[in-house]
Amino acid sequence: MEKNITIDTLMNEALSDPIQELALSVLEGLSTKPKGLPSKLFYDDKGSELFKQIMALKEYYPTRCEAEILETHGGTIANYLKSEEFNLIELGCGDGAKTIILLKHLLKTSDNFHFVPLDISKAAVEFLISNLKKEFGHIPFDVKGLVAEYFHGVKWLTQHDSEKNLVLFLGSNIGNFSNPAAKRFLRHLWHSLNDGDFVLVGFDLKKDLDILYNAYNDKKGITKEFNFNVLDRVNALLGGNFKRENFQHQGLYDVKSGAMESYLISRTKHTVTISELGKEFYFKPWEAIHMEYSYKYLESDIQDIASSTGFEILENFKDSKGYFVDSLWRVKK
Ligand code: AVJ
Repeated sequence: MEKNITIDTLMNEALSDPIQELALSVLEGLSTKPKGLPSKLFYDDKGSELFKQIMALKEYYPTRCEAEILETHGGTIANYLKSEEFNLIELGCGDGAKTIILLKHLLKTSDNFHFVPLDISKAAVEFLISNLKKEFGHIPFDVKGLVAEYFHGVKWLTQHDSEKNLVLFLGSNIGNFSNPAAKRFLRHLWHSLNDGDFVLVGFDLKKDLDILYNAYNDKKGITKEFNFNVLDRVNALLGGNFKRENFQHQGLYDVKSGAMESYLISRTKHTVTISELGKEFYFKPWEAIHMEYSYKYLESDIQDIASSTGFEILENFKDSKGYFVDSLWRVKK
């Protein structure tokens, strides 16, 4: 039987003009002390392409660790769902290379599921679907691609609330959230799921600081490009005049937050104008723009975050180096 393949774009209803929304978040970020820019700005089509290059870097271990985990334990995960029809929802799917590993394991026991990959970048969803075609020829399951923010993926779930679900939140995407924001997000997810549904969450573990440092300060400078792309985007969309040569990139581990944090640091005293905001922003020499948090976890943190948001941990799957965990949770209601 022919399977259905579609892509829908879900708009933010609160602010239907995405440029206005961007302008507000940039205004807020650059007016705050210390300055910051929202990390969702990384993932336009260009940023998603750069992130693909990051995942291929030898220093960037999380992707390879998670691929190993899904290869080794995908069969065990599939067993939890066998003989049931379900939705497989992936929040922030990216290129789906790791998901294909899990899909192959799932297909050994059933093709009775609907794959719902969601990403903020349309190019990422399209690339994933072309990857699926390359991998499977005729894709043996339904695919409903969604171009949207996480929040809308959760909303999609509430509209399909009579069905069994496995939600994937892989790649340490949760690491961008602070602890309270992560709990808020997971509790929101919990509300839209049914008792007995499953969630698979990827957590990057705390580890040797040199390994962390190298992963976020790669030799080829792709991570730096990934950060500069955000400035290019603000320039292009909001009429900004950020100059790359005025900034230095650095990823640093913060001992208090327990996160790798990414900064663009102003080399000189200078002014940046953003015409869409009708505003100038002053930079002192060596003043930083905070770009991203990548929170690192202990297994005890994972236990805490799961139990305080209404999930039961079924299994923690670790890679052979012990760098990364995919934690399989069941919704308790
Ligand atoms: C996509 C958020 C999981 O935090 O490791 C990679 C993004 N930033 N290198 C991460 C990222 C710099 C990545 N996440």
